Amino acid sequence: MTMIVTGAAGFIGSQLVDRLLADGHRVVGVDNMSRGTRENLALALPHKDFTLIEGDCAEPATLTAAIAACGPADMVWHLAANSDIAAGVADTRIDMRDTFMTTWGAVEIAKASGATKIAFASTSAVYGAHPDPLVETHGPMLPISNYGAMKLAGEALISAAVESHLKQAWIFRFPNVVGDRATHGVINDLFLKLKRDPTELEVLGDGKQQKPYLHASDLIEAMLYIVDNADEPRALYNIGPEDEGFDVAGIAAGVIAASKTGARIRYTGGDRGWVGDVPKFSYSVEKLARLGWRPSMSSAQAVARAIAEVAVQRGFA
Ligand SMILES: NC(=O)c1ccc[n+]([C@@H]2O[C@H](COP(=O)([O-])OP(=O)(O)OC[C@H]3O[C@@H](n4cnc5c(N)ncnc54)[C@H](O)[C@@H]3O)[C@@H](O)[C@H]2O)c1
Repeated sequence: MTMIVTGAAGFIGSQLVDRLLADGHRVVGVDNMSRGTRENLALALPHKDFTLIEGDCAEPATLTAAIAACGPADMVWHLAANSDIAAGVADTRIDMRDTFMTTWGAVEIAKASGATKIAFASTSAVYGAHPDPLVETHGPMLPISNYGAMKLAGEALISAAVESHLKQAWIFRFPNVVGDRATHGVINDLFLKLKRDPTELEVLGDGKQQKPYLHASDLIEAMLYIVDNADEPRALYNIGPEDEGFDVAGIAAGVIAASKTGARIRYTGGDRGWVGDVPKFSYSVEKLARLGWRPSMSSAQAVARAIAEVAVQRGFA
Protein backbone atom coordinates (compact mmCIF):
# COMPACT_ATOMS: atom_id res chain seq x y z
CA MET A 1 0.00 0.00 0.00
CA THR A 2 1.03 3.65 -0.37
CA MET A 3 1.07 5.37 3.01
CA ILE A 4 1.54 9.07 3.81
CA VAL A 5 3.02 9.76 7.25
CA THR A 6 2.93 13.33 8.63
CA GLY A 7 5.46 14.07 11.36
CA ALA A 8 7.62 11.41 9.70
CA ALA A 9 10.95 12.69 11.05
CA GLY A 10 9.80 12.85 14.68
CA PHE A 11 10.24 10.46 17.59
CA ILE A 12 7.25 8.19 16.90
CA GLY A 13 6.74 9.04 13.21
CA SER A 14 10.24 7.91 12.21
CA GLN A 15 9.80 4.58 14.02
CA LEU A 16 6.46 4.08 12.30
CA VAL A 17 8.06 4.87 8.91
CA ASP A 18 10.75 2.23 9.52
CA ARG A 19 8.10 -0.34 10.41
CA LEU A 20 5.86 0.44 7.40
CA LEU A 21 8.86 0.17 5.03
CA ALA A 22 9.88 -3.13 6.64
CA ASP A 23 6.32 -4.38 6.08
CA GLY A 24 6.69 -3.64 2.36
CA HIS A 25 4.70 -0.41 2.00
CA ARG A 26 5.60 2.65 -0.05
CA VAL A 27 5.87 5.65 2.28
CA VAL A 28 5.75 9.39 1.65
CA GLY A 29 6.81 11.30 4.77
CA VAL A 30 5.91 14.93 5.44
CA ASP A 31 7.69 16.97 8.11
CA ASN A 32 8.69 20.62 8.53
CA MET A 33 11.75 19.49 10.52
CA SER A 34 10.87 21.83 13.42
CA ARG A 35 11.55 18.96 15.84
CA GLY A 36 12.10 16.05 13.50
CA THR A 37 15.59 15.25 12.22
CA ARG A 38 17.14 13.55 9.18
CA GLU A 39 19.11 11.49 11.71
CA ASN A 40 15.83 9.87 12.82
CA LEU A 41 15.29 8.91 9.17
CA ALA A 42 18.77 7.44 8.67
CA LEU A 43 17.30 4.02 7.80
CA ALA A 44 14.42 5.36 5.73
CA LEU A 45 16.11 8.03 3.57
CA PRO A 46 18.18 5.59 1.44
CA HIS A 47 15.20 3.22 1.05
CA LYS A 48 13.86 2.99 -2.52
CA ASP A 49 10.25 3.12 -1.29
CA PHE A 50 10.62 6.26 0.84
CA THR A 51 10.18 9.91 -0.15
CA LEU A 52 10.49 12.85 2.26
CA ILE A 53 8.61 16.10 1.63
CA GLU A 54 10.03 18.85 3.83
CA GLY A 55 7.36 21.45 4.53
CA ASP A 56 4.58 22.68 6.76
CA CYS A 57 1.65 20.28 6.74
CA ALA A 58 -0.72 23.22 7.21
CA GLU A 59 0.50 24.93 3.99
CA PRO A 60 -1.23 24.25 0.66
CA ALA A 61 2.18 24.15 -1.15
CA THR A 62 3.27 21.21 1.03
CA LEU A 63 0.02 19.39 0.42
CA THR A 64 0.46 19.82 -3.34
CA ALA A 65 4.06 18.53 -3.16
CA ALA A 66 3.03 15.51 -1.07
CA ILE A 67 0.20 14.60 -3.41
CA ALA A 68 2.45 14.99 -6.48
CA ALA A 69 5.09 12.75 -4.85
CA CYS A 70 2.75 9.92 -3.94
CA GLY A 71 0.07 9.81 -6.64
CA PRO A 72 -2.92 7.77 -5.49
CA ALA A 73 -2.53 6.82 -1.81
CA ASP A 74 -4.28 4.30 0.43
CA MET A 75 -3.88 5.70 3.91
CA VAL A 76 -2.67 8.74 5.88
CA TRP A 77 -1.00 8.39 9.29
CA HIS A 78 -1.24 11.83 10.89
CA LEU A 79 1.41 12.38 13.56
CA ALA A 80 2.60 15.95 12.93
CA ALA A 81 1.85 18.22 15.91
CA ASN A 82 3.36 20.60 18.39
CA SER A 83 4.88 18.53 21.19
CA ASP A 84 5.66 21.37 23.62
CA ILE A 85 2.46 21.77 25.64
CA ALA A 86 3.81 24.65 27.74
CA ALA A 87 4.84 26.61 24.63
CA GLY A 88 1.32 26.15 23.28
CA VAL A 89 -0.15 27.71 26.42
CA ALA A 90 2.18 30.72 26.19
CA ASP A 91 1.49 31.29 22.47
CA THR A 92 -1.93 30.02 21.40
CA ARG A 93 -1.01 30.23 17.70
CA ILE A 94 1.37 27.26 18.07
CA ASP A 95 -1.28 24.59 18.65
CA MET A 96 -3.70 26.28 16.27
CA ARG A 97 -1.12 25.86 13.49
CA ASP A 98 0.93 22.77 14.34
CA THR A 99 -1.71 20.67 16.12
CA PHE A 100 -5.00 21.69 14.46
CA MET A 101 -4.16 23.06 11.00
CA THR A 102 -1.83 20.13 10.34
CA THR A 103 -4.85 17.87 10.98
CA TRP A 104 -6.83 19.90 8.44
CA GLY A 105 -3.85 19.44 6.09
CA ALA A 106 -3.78 15.67 6.68
CA VAL A 107 -7.50 15.40 5.90
CA GLU A 108 -6.98 17.46 2.71
CA ILE A 109 -4.03 15.26 1.65
CA ALA A 110 -6.26 12.20 2.11
CA LYS A 111 -9.03 13.76 0.03
CA ALA A 112 -6.76 14.85 -2.84
CA SER A 113 -4.74 11.60 -2.96
CA GLY A 114 -7.80 9.37 -2.81
CA ALA A 115 -6.78 7.86 0.55
CA THR A 116 -9.93 6.70 2.33
CA LYS A 117 -8.31 5.82 5.66
CA ILE A 118 -6.70 8.01 8.34
CA ALA A 119 -4.97 7.02 11.55
CA PHE A 120 -4.61 9.94 13.98
CA ALA A 121 -2.21 10.32 16.94
CA SER A 122 -4.47 11.90 19.56
CA THR A 123 -3.73 12.11 23.26
CA SER A 124 -4.89 11.64 26.83
CA ALA A 125 -4.77 15.47 27.03
CA VAL A 126 -8.19 15.64 25.31
CA TYR A 127 -9.80 14.41 28.57
CA GLY A 128 -8.59 17.26 30.78
CA ALA A 129 -7.89 16.64 34.49
CA HIS A 130 -9.91 13.83 36.11
CA PRO A 131 -9.32 11.59 39.13
CA ASP A 132 -11.08 8.59 37.55
CA PRO A 133 -9.60 6.14 35.06
CA LEU A 134 -10.11 7.70 31.63
CA VAL A 135 -12.42 5.68 29.39
CA GLU A 136 -13.16 6.39 25.74
CA THR A 137 -16.83 7.13 26.57
CA HIS A 138 -15.88 9.78 29.17
CA GLY A 139 -17.64 13.14 29.02
CA PRO A 140 -17.80 16.09 29.00
CA MET A 141 -14.47 16.53 27.25
CA LEU A 142 -12.89 19.67 28.73
CA PRO A 143 -9.13 19.77 27.99
CA ILE A 144 -6.90 22.04 30.12
CA SER A 145 -4.23 22.81 27.49
CA ASN A 146 -4.43 24.34 24.01
CA TYR A 147 -2.64 21.22 22.79
CA GLY A 148 -5.44 19.00 24.20
CA ALA A 149 -8.08 21.39 22.85
CA MET A 150 -6.64 21.35 19.33
CA LYS A 151 -6.25 17.54 19.37
CA LEU A 152 -9.92 17.24 20.40
CA ALA A 153 -10.86 19.61 17.55
CA GLY A 154 -8.77 17.41 15.24
CA GLU A 155 -10.70 14.32 16.33
CA ALA A 156 -13.92 16.17 15.49
CA LEU A 157 -12.63 17.21 12.06
CA ILE A 158 -11.62 13.63 11.22
CA SER A 159 -14.95 12.28 12.47
CA ALA A 160 -16.77 14.68 10.14
CA ALA A 161 -14.61 13.60 7.18
CA VAL A 162 -15.76 10.00 7.74
CA GLU A 163 -19.19 11.24 6.72
CA SER A 164 -17.84 12.45 3.37
CA HIS A 165 -14.63 11.20 1.70
CA LEU A 166 -13.12 8.90 4.36
CA LYS A 167 -14.26 5.30 4.77
CA GLN A 168 -12.53 4.75 8.11
CA ALA A 169 -10.62 6.63 10.79
CA TRP A 170 -8.64 5.25 13.71
CA ILE A 171 -8.20 7.75 16.53
CA PHE A 172 -5.54 6.68 19.02
CA ARG A 173 -5.32 8.45 22.37
CA PHE A 174 -1.69 7.96 23.41
CA PRO A 175 -0.44 8.18 27.01
CA ASN A 176 3.18 9.36 27.59
CA VAL A 177 5.30 7.57 25.04
CA VAL A 178 8.99 6.94 25.75
CA GLY A 179 11.95 5.38 23.97
CA ASP A 180 14.80 5.84 21.53
CA ARG A 181 14.91 8.93 19.23
CA ALA A 182 13.12 11.04 21.86
CA THR A 183 12.71 14.66 20.75
CA HIS A 184 10.97 15.82 23.94
CA GLY A 185 9.39 14.46 27.12
CA VAL A 186 10.56 14.14 30.70
CA ILE A 187 13.37 11.60 30.18
CA ASN A 188 14.89 13.55 27.30
CA ASP A 189 14.53 16.87 29.14
CA LEU A 190 16.24 15.56 32.29
CA PHE A 191 19.23 14.20 30.33
CA LEU A 192 19.57 17.52 28.47
CA LYS A 193 19.51 19.40 31.79
CA LEU A 194 22.27 17.14 33.13
CA LYS A 195 24.34 17.96 30.05
CA ARG A 196 24.11 21.64 30.95
CA ASP A 197 24.69 21.13 34.70
CA PRO A 198 25.85 17.68 35.89
CA THR A 199 25.77 18.75 39.56
CA GLU A 200 22.13 19.72 40.02
CA LEU A 201 18.99 18.41 38.31
CA GLU A 202 15.98 20.72 38.22
CA VAL A 203 12.72 18.73 38.24
CA LEU A 204 9.48 20.56 37.47
CA GLY A 205 6.78 20.21 40.16
CA ASP A 206 7.10 18.16 43.35
CA GLY A 207 8.08 14.86 41.70
CA LYS A 208 4.77 13.22 42.68
CA GLN A 209 3.18 13.59 39.25
CA GLN A 210 2.20 10.08 38.22
CA LYS A 211 1.35 9.11 34.63
CA PRO A 212 1.07 6.01 32.48
CA TYR A 213 4.11 5.40 30.22
CA LEU A 214 4.22 3.23 27.11
CA HIS A 215 7.33 2.25 25.19
CA ALA A 216 7.30 3.38 21.52
CA SER A 217 7.80 -0.21 20.33
CA ASP A 218 4.59 -1.26 22.11
CA LEU A 219 2.78 1.79 20.75
CA ILE A 220 3.65 0.93 17.13
CA GLU A 221 2.50 -2.67 17.64
CA ALA A 222 -0.77 -1.44 19.16
CA MET A 223 -1.50 1.00 16.32
CA LEU A 224 -0.91 -1.62 13.65
CA TYR A 225 -3.00 -4.15 15.58
CA ILE A 226 -5.92 -1.73 15.91
CA VAL A 227 -5.81 -0.81 12.20
CA ASP A 228 -5.89 -4.51 11.31
CA ASN A 229 -8.60 -5.50 13.77
CA ALA A 230 -10.95 -2.60 14.60
CA ASP A 231 -13.45 -2.20 11.80
CA GLU A 232 -15.91 0.43 13.06
CA PRO A 233 -15.87 3.57 10.81
CA ARG A 234 -14.66 5.74 13.70
CA ALA A 235 -12.43 3.49 15.81
CA LEU A 236 -11.48 5.35 19.00
CA TYR A 237 -8.95 3.68 21.32
CA ASN A 238 -6.91 4.61 24.37
CA ILE A 239 -3.48 3.00 24.03
CA GLY A 240 -1.53 2.58 27.24
CA PRO A 241 -0.07 0.32 29.90
CA GLU A 242 -2.30 -1.68 32.24
CA ASP A 243 -1.06 -0.05 35.45
CA GLU A 244 -1.47 3.20 37.39
CA GLY A 245 1.72 4.72 36.00
CA PHE A 246 5.10 5.82 37.32
CA ASP A 247 6.16 8.93 39.23
CA VAL A 248 8.49 11.72 38.13
CA ALA A 249 10.73 11.35 41.21
CA GLY A 250 11.41 7.74 40.16
CA ILE A 251 12.25 8.87 36.64
CA ALA A 252 14.64 11.55 37.95
CA ALA A 253 16.40 8.97 40.15
CA GLY A 254 16.73 6.59 37.19
CA VAL A 255 18.13 9.29 34.91
CA ILE A 256 20.71 10.37 37.51
CA ALA A 257 21.80 6.75 38.03
CA ALA A 258 22.12 6.17 34.26
CA SER A 259 24.04 9.45 33.81
CA LYS A 260 26.52 8.50 36.59
CA THR A 261 26.67 12.21 37.51
CA GLY A 262 25.47 11.85 41.11
CA ALA A 263 23.55 15.13 40.66
CA ARG A 264 21.31 16.36 43.47
CA ILE A 265 17.64 16.97 42.68
CA ARG A 266 16.00 20.39 43.05
CA TYR A 267 12.20 20.33 42.76
CA THR A 268 10.57 23.56 41.57
CA GLY A 269 7.50 22.71 43.73
CA GLY A 270 3.74 22.67 43.16
CA ASP A 271 1.70 19.67 42.07
CA ARG A 272 2.29 20.13 38.34
CA GLY A 273 5.17 20.83 35.98
CA TRP A 274 3.61 23.57 33.83
CA VAL A 275 0.29 25.23 33.02
CA GLY A 276 -1.78 22.61 31.21
CA ASP A 277 0.05 19.66 32.82
CA VAL A 278 -2.28 16.92 34.11
CA PRO A 279 -0.32 15.82 37.21
CA LYS A 280 -1.99 12.49 37.82
CA PHE A 281 -4.18 10.32 35.66
CA SER A 282 -4.85 6.70 34.99
CA TYR A 283 -6.01 5.19 31.78
CA SER A 284 -8.59 2.56 30.96
CA VAL A 285 -7.25 0.23 28.26
CA GLU A 286 -10.07 -2.31 28.66
CA LYS A 287 -11.47 -1.61 25.19
CA LEU A 288 -8.07 -2.36 23.62
CA ALA A 289 -7.70 -5.53 25.73
CA ARG A 290 -11.15 -6.66 24.54
CA LEU A 291 -9.97 -6.18 20.95
CA GLY A 292 -7.12 -8.55 21.83
CA TRP A 293 -3.99 -6.41 22.34
CA ARG A 294 -1.96 -6.06 25.56
CA PRO A 295 1.32 -4.20 26.10
CA SER A 296 4.52 -6.18 26.65
CA MET A 297 5.87 -3.71 29.25
CA SER A 298 4.54 -1.98 32.37
CA SER A 299 5.06 1.76 32.88
CA ALA A 300 8.09 1.04 35.09
CA GLN A 301 9.62 -1.33 32.52
CA ALA A 302 8.98 1.11 29.66
CA VAL A 303 10.61 3.94 31.63
CA ALA A 304 13.65 1.79 32.56
CA ARG A 305 14.20 0.74 28.95
CA ALA A 306 13.74 4.29 27.65
CA ILE A 307 16.19 5.71 30.21
CA ALA A 308 18.83 3.25 28.96
CA GLU A 309 18.09 4.20 25.32
CA VAL A 310 18.03 7.96 25.80
CA ALA A 311 21.22 7.77 27.91
CA VAL A 312 22.96 6.44 24.78
CA GLN A 313 21.19 8.97 22.50
CA ARG A 314 22.32 11.90 24.70
CA GLY A 315 25.88 10.64 25.10
CA PHE A 316 25.79 9.37 28.70
CA ALA A 317 26.45 5.72 27.91
N1 LIG B 1 5.30 11.31 22.66
C1 LIG B 1 4.22 11.31 23.43
O1 LIG B 1 4.31 11.06 24.63
C2 LIG B 1 2.86 11.60 22.82
C3 LIG B 1 1.73 11.54 23.66
C4 LIG B 1 0.49 11.80 23.14
C5 LIG B 1 0.35 12.11 21.79
N2 LIG B 1 1.47 12.19 21.00
C6 LIG B 1 1.28 12.56 19.59
O2 LIG B 1 2.02 11.68 18.75
C7 LIG B 1 2.49 12.38 17.60
C8 LIG B 1 3.98 12.19 17.46
O3 LIG B 1 4.60 12.74 18.61
P1 LIG B 1 6.15 12.63 18.88
O4 LIG B 1 6.32 12.32 20.31
O5 LIG B 1 6.80 11.77 17.87
O6 LIG B 1 6.59 14.15 18.69
P2 LIG B 1 7.69 14.80 17.75
O7 LIG B 1 7.72 16.25 18.06
O8 LIG B 1 8.96 14.05 17.82
O9 LIG B 1 7.05 14.56 16.30
C9 LIG B 1 6.16 15.47 15.69
C10 LIG B 1 6.73 15.80 14.32
O10 LIG B 1 5.86 16.72 13.67
C11 LIG B 1 6.66 17.69 13.00
N3 LIG B 1 5.82 18.88 12.84
C12 LIG B 1 5.40 19.75 13.82
N4 LIG B 1 4.66 20.73 13.27
C13 LIG B 1 4.62 20.47 11.92
C14 LIG B 1 4.01 21.14 10.82
N5 LIG B 1 3.32 22.29 10.98
N6 LIG B 1 4.16 20.59 9.59
C15 LIG B 1 4.88 19.44 9.40
N7 LIG B 1 5.48 18.78 10.42
C16 LIG B 1 5.34 19.30 11.66
C17 LIG B 1 7.88 17.89 13.88
O11 LIG B 1 8.99 18.38 13.16
C18 LIG B 1 8.11 16.48 14.40
O12 LIG B 1 9.03 15.76 13.59
C19 LIG B 1 2.09 13.85 17.80
O13 LIG B 1 0.88 14.07 17.10
C20 LIG B 1 1.84 13.94 19.29
O14 LIG B 1 0.90 14.95 19.61
C21 LIG B 1 2.71 11.94 21.48
